[in-house]
Amino acid sequence: MVSAYAELEEHMRARLGGRACLHVPSCRLGLYLALRRWCPPGGRVLMSPVNDDVIFFVVLAAGLRPVQAPLDPRDGSLDPAAVPDSVWSGLSAVLTTNLYGNPDPAPELRARCDRLGIPLLEDAAHAVGTTVGGRPVGTWGDASVFSLSKHTGAKTGGFLSVADPAERDALAAERDALLRPARLAKEIAYLLRPHAESAARGLRLARPAHAALRAAGLHERPGIRMPLRPDELTRALGAAPALDPFDSWIRVDMHTYRLRPGAARLARTRRRLAALDTVLDAHRAGTARLLASEYSGRGLPAGGEVPPLFRVPLLVEDRDAAVAALARRRITVGYLYDPPLDAYAGEAFTDPSPAPEGAAWFARHALPVDPRRADEALAALRARGARPAVPSPALGGAR
Ligand SMILES: Cc1ncc(COP(=O)(O)O)c(C=O)c1O
Repeated sequence: MVSAYAELEEHMRARLGGRACLHVPSCRLGLYLALRRWCPPGGRVLMSPVNDDVIFFVVLAAGLRPVQAPLDPRDGSLDPAAVPDSVWSGLSAVLTTNLYGNPDPAPELRARCDRLGIPLLEDAAHAVGTTVGGRPVGTWGDASVFSLSKHTGAKTGGFLSVADPAERDALAAERDALLRPARLAKEIAYLLRPHAESAARGLRLARPAHAALRAAGLHERPGIRMPLRPDELTRALGAAPALDPFDSWIRVDMHTYRLRPGAARLARTRRRLAALDTVLDAHRAGTARLLASEYSGRGLPAGGEVPPLFRVPLLVEDRDAAVAALARRRITVGYLYDPPLDAYAGEAFTDPSPAPEGAAWFARHALPVDPRRADEALAALRARGARPAVPSPALGGAR
């Protein structure tokens, strides 16, 4: 087992120019470990409000207060220029999101964190293969986390990567203390799940299959955001930092997030990781077509290097109608993060953004499209007459 871990970690280390890497059963568990290691309990963490709510609950579980950041309405990246000095001075850490693979401005954030003497933590779940400032996303932070459930498609696993290799072994011990033992039934379910899903799709059984998943407790999102359950959350906060009281929020979409991986998981992960460069090429090609379209908020990058975005956030006037138009062509739109976390959770659980308008506009108009379906998606949107949305300059995003 040790050698299977070591092989995966070596693969990732090479991608990140030699940075030390630790395999974790999920990106969210890696993030929890990083937040516990680098942030003092009760600390305040600047984060993106247009983000998976699971990440919000990980920050709360780590005993930290989320502080929502202003965003550039064109691509949902953090806008450091719009963060007031009074907010910077109260922070214990900055957590980037690199939403859909669009890099947050890591060089600027790194410099700012250095001046403040606080850690930069990078969530690179969506951003494997993307560079910023000439370096891979995930090599700027004191710690960074990656998910093997996104481009890699392994539906399990991730990495915690650290700038100081001396941190690695202590983090490995902390990871092991949080792991739940491997379970044969979960391993078998993991191996069968892709087959069950494609069989259900082939038989057009998507609806019954989803009902079955719901019955099994695997579907905990009746809408885009999971139910907040504020009273229970307040009780859980009294026990933070700790993972167990937050389990019912953090496990959403992945009940195995802290399961020790068995041989089957590790073997499939290794095969998927070996194919990652081919997948990234396909993402790059589709990203170029989507960024060149009338629906792109930023257009093609000036330098010509197209990132392998995980999803390309097209900007459309009527997002719900666009989602329905794509659904009719059997293109499923996931990874929607609307409303922003401050509107979702309220001031009881987070500091609101000092300038929330850009994030709210982006969350409402962004249509995250899988770049591997670029041509079909563009054809569907054009056939439907979907109108591109353009943010007004008053919403900010001057970079
Ligand atoms: C931005 C972001 N970070 C982290 C994660 C968590 O990744 P994992 O499912 O590997 O825990 C997700 C999951 O969708 C995500 O969207």
